[in-house]
Amino acid sequence: MQTIIISDLEGGVRVITLNRPDKKNALTGAMYDSMREALAAADASEAIGAVVFAGQPGMFSAGNDLADFMGNAGDNAEDGFSASPALAFIRQLARTRTPMVAAVDGIAVGIGATLCLHCDLVYASPAARLRMPFVELGLVPEAASSYLLPLRVGRLRATELLLLSRPLEADEAQALGLVNAVLPADMLVEQAIAQATKLAALPRGALAASRALIRGDQAQIEAAVEAEAKAFDAQLRSPESQERLAAFLSRSKPATST
Ligand code: COA
Repeated sequence: MQTIIISDLEGGVRVITLNRPDKKNALTGAMYDSMREALAAADASEAIGAVVFAGQPGMFSAGNDLADFMGNAGDNAEDGFSASPALAFIRQLARTRTPMVAAVDGIAVGIGATLCLHCDLVYASPAARLRMPFVELGLVPEAASSYLLPLRVGRLRATELLLLSRPLEADEAQALGLVNAVLPADMLVEQAIAQATKLAALPRGALAASRALIRGDQAQIEAAVEAEAKAFDAQLRSPESQERLAAFLSRSKPATST
């Protein structure tokens, strides 16, 4: 089964569909690689003017595959998050020039939520539920979320979302400016594609220059990605994160609660 489906539509829109429903669209290394290549190729192609990220009904993504996280945390320094397909994807995501639109139905956990911070437009179904449980898992925020989220929602709210892992329902995400509109699930992808098609039809030079101005300080975003990656790498090797990840995988409670 293809876990990432790439479809190039008329009108210059590339749709990247996450397709691993048996694991709630949790992202493996191979899935990150496919998405990274699809974004880089979109930037390199004159035919593609916008990208849409979509999931499956009721699930955008459960975030990084937690078994992969455990596998990435070996003693060999080359094995950590720094060398992971996840970080390579995040770096590409942060520097992608092609406008990106997210269609979020259902759960959007970890990178499933932080990916949206890089999208130019975000649409959600009423069932959308964003959650960033990095600290709960003994990890730290990634994908520049420690920089972008406080910028968007203020530091105090970002603290609730990133440190206390408070879930965000669709309506609140919209009220906070993290989602453009809440749409019925059966119209979501269609609407996201329609908006992406509008973006793709705009004069490319003006669009690229305006997008860069709207997005803010690119160097800061990339610096945040790197600073987070260092901390993430260290945490991933820590007993506290290994215990939390193992607890999820074995569905037991962590031996100690902090
Ligand atoms: N990594 C690996 N496997 C995952 C996963 C993840 N991030 N999220 C879900 N799965 C797997 C489950 O282990 C389960 O596999 P199994 O059927 O072989 O046991 C399957 O997907 C279905 O998940 P389940 O937990 O039964 O579904 P649910 O509807 O009860 O809950 C979630 C969905 C997303 C709330 C829950 O799976 C969850 O909390 N996942 C972890 C999310 C996470 O912490 N991501 C990383 C953030 S940094």
